[in-house]
Amino acid sequence: MSKVNEAINKLTKELNEHNYNYYVLSAPTISDYDFDILLKELQVLEEKYPEFADENSPTKRVGGDITKNFPSVQHRFPMLSLGNSYSKEEIIDFDTRVRKVIEREIEYICELKYDGVAISLTYENGELKKAVTRGDGASGEEVTANIRTIRSIPLMLKGDYPIDFDIRGEIVFPHANFKKLNEERKKLGEPEFANPRNTASGTVKMQDSSIVAKRGLDCFLYAVYGNNLSFKSHYQGLTNAGKWGFKIPDESANYIKRVKTIEQIMEFIDYWDEKRSELPFDIDGIVIKVNAYDKQEELGYTAKSPRWAISYKFKAERVFTKLNSITYQVGRTGAITPVANLESVQLGGTTVKRASMHNADQIERLDIRVNDTVFVEKGGEIIPKIVAVDFAARKKDSNKTIYIANCPECETPLIRKEGEAQHYCPNESVCPPQLKGKMEHFIGRKMMDIDGLGAETIEQLFEEDLVKNVADLYDLTSEQLLPLDRMAEKSVNNLIDGLIKSKEVPFAKVLFALGIRYVGETVAKTLVKHFKTLDLLMSATVDELIEVDEIGERIADSVVSYFSEQRNVELITRLKAKGLQFEIGEEELKGTSSLLEGLIFVISGTFNMSRNDIKKAIEKNGGKVGSSISKKTSYLIRGENMGPSKLKKAEELDVSMVTENAFLKMIEQNPSGDFVTDSKPTQGRLF
Ligand code: IVH
Repeated sequence: MSKVNEAINKLTKELNEHNYNYYVLSAPTISDYDFDILLKELQVLEEKYPEFADENSPTKRVGGDITKNFPSVQHRFPMLSLGNSYSKEEIIDFDTRVRKVIEREIEYICELKYDGVAISLTYENGELKKAVTRGDGASGEEVTANIRTIRSIPLMLKGDYPIDFDIRGEIVFPHANFKKLNEERKKLGEPEFANPRNTASGTVKMQDSSIVAKRGLDCFLYAVYGNNLSFKSHYQGLTNAGKWGFKIPDESANYIKRVKTIEQIMEFIDYWDEKRSELPFDIDGIVIKVNAYDKQEELGYTAKSPRWAISYKFKAERVFTKLNSITYQVGRTGAITPVANLESVQLGGTTVKRASMHNADQIERLDIRVNDTVFVEKGGEIIPKIVAVDFAARKKDSNKTIYIANCPECETPLIRKEGEAQHYCPNESVCPPQLKGKMEHFIGRKMMDIDGLGAETIEQLFEEDLVKNVADLYDLTSEQLLPLDRMAEKSVNNLIDGLIKSKEVPFAKVLFALGIRYVGETVAKTLVKHFKTLDLLMSATVDELIEVDEIGERIADSVVSYFSEQRNVELITRLKAKGLQFEIGEEELKGTSSLLEGLIFVISGTFNMSRNDIKKAIEKNGGKVGSSISKKTSYLIRGENMGPSKLKKAEELDVSMVTENAFLKMIEQNPSGDFVTDSKPTQGRLF
């Protein structure tokens, strides 16, 4: 084994262990900083020597692979569903049925019924090979690249694992991460996600695995499947899986319990019915399984589900209360959200005073009116919602709710774009919550991060008529600020210093800070990397924007529309004059070159490096990636097993072809050729 390979293996092993300690045992033994250094070391080695990079390397946790179409994959063992029950009588009937067949002592395993998306993981020789969604139970979609980013799922196993087995579980969106995601979306003026389950399901099927990596999904495993497994029961399967590195239900936290009687089953149900609101993730019931495999076999299956297991579904927590009034909130982007103000009521362990009604359609559909008695439910959603109205309790004199036609803050007539559920206030340049919201966004920690300036100060400056937009902030003087309430000399100096310092904030953050709809942190970075200056970005057309990797039509439209507004152009002109950064800095330019500028590459076939890395290398060096061969194609990067039709087309059009090695040589001479290998010189036609 070469020295490099040895080093890669050692780092991989170390990182896997640290990952396990952190995400499975929740007991890290090194700091995040030290972990990142080790990871970076591995990343550098893998980029330099891609021939030694493993598809299950810990570097895959950060994602990066793009999947356009998820292939359909047949399950080796069908993914059955569980028989549902909603009452304790049905659980008693289940137990009676089981005991009639078995007529011996029975051990049940009680577990949580995680509310997420089912996943089946295939491991071969201790490595994760495939992750497939449930689909129709017979076959599902392969989403491996996305699942690799879930840190609690081991990519390489340890201990005495079977050579070939499947393990199944549920992907869930932990509450804390879900909340964080929605807070970020709110800041960006994007609609918030309604509930963790649907968002987990959408996230698993995203094309860009690096976005999945950032969202922080988790996975709870609930069954091992395989031929000739060495253990004899479901419980032993899980305990063994724990030894191979999987995160399994915590018995000491009562996430799983071995029981022998129906009374103990009921106890488990009651315990979680009461305590489930304290869990950091959603469950929608509990599952009861006969433990021993031989007894499971005796009991057998119906067409759809096993006769040896059943789920008990909790009733959604629901209370009724009075709707006192409806108010309307205006967000930073002008989006209107109707809010139900309720008579306070206890629900799922918290006091509820407000509930969501989403939009005008929802109010209309449920015919919700002020003074109604309404049913409020806390389903998967974090914010409770009104699910129904008690029409019998409605007073005769009640009036149908008429959705507001004008902005509650600035009176401007609202608009509603075709196909969108939300109403908007279009008065962006005057409407107070929009103006304040935009400034609050601008000063945020991840944006301009202005010391000495917070939401309260923005409110104060706005009320005092000192600022209306972000450019006004840079006109503020000590003389204006000193007479204000709570503004001592020290805080004034602090604020002015903070503003001066913010002029050094790099362009990508400035772009994010502007608050262009759909231009978040990552998109801003991508745009800056590609266009390099604001002037170039401002003159880009929708088509040119779409050409950029990861920029879709929705973002492109939003960017073009933002810069087509005269007032935005004026705002930027003022910010430029104040000295803010509107060009990519030296630091960010490092690692890019214009070596391939003007060249269009088409990549076809399979390679040692991932396609995505080749793509990144082209873009980093100023080239473009085309999807199909045309007269415009400068080079075809030709991998193994390239389709004959592509080859024929390239020959017909006389497109130059290069091998992977030849391409690497092409970029070798430049400082950003991070991908250069020490591989043999090319056998390509060109070099
Ligand atoms: S066992 C053959 N255990 O519930 C039985 N399923 O209808 C296979 N689920 O979508 C399932 N928590 O993904 C089992 N502890 C648990 C579970 C669980 C959630 C989901 C599962 C499936 C549905 C079953």
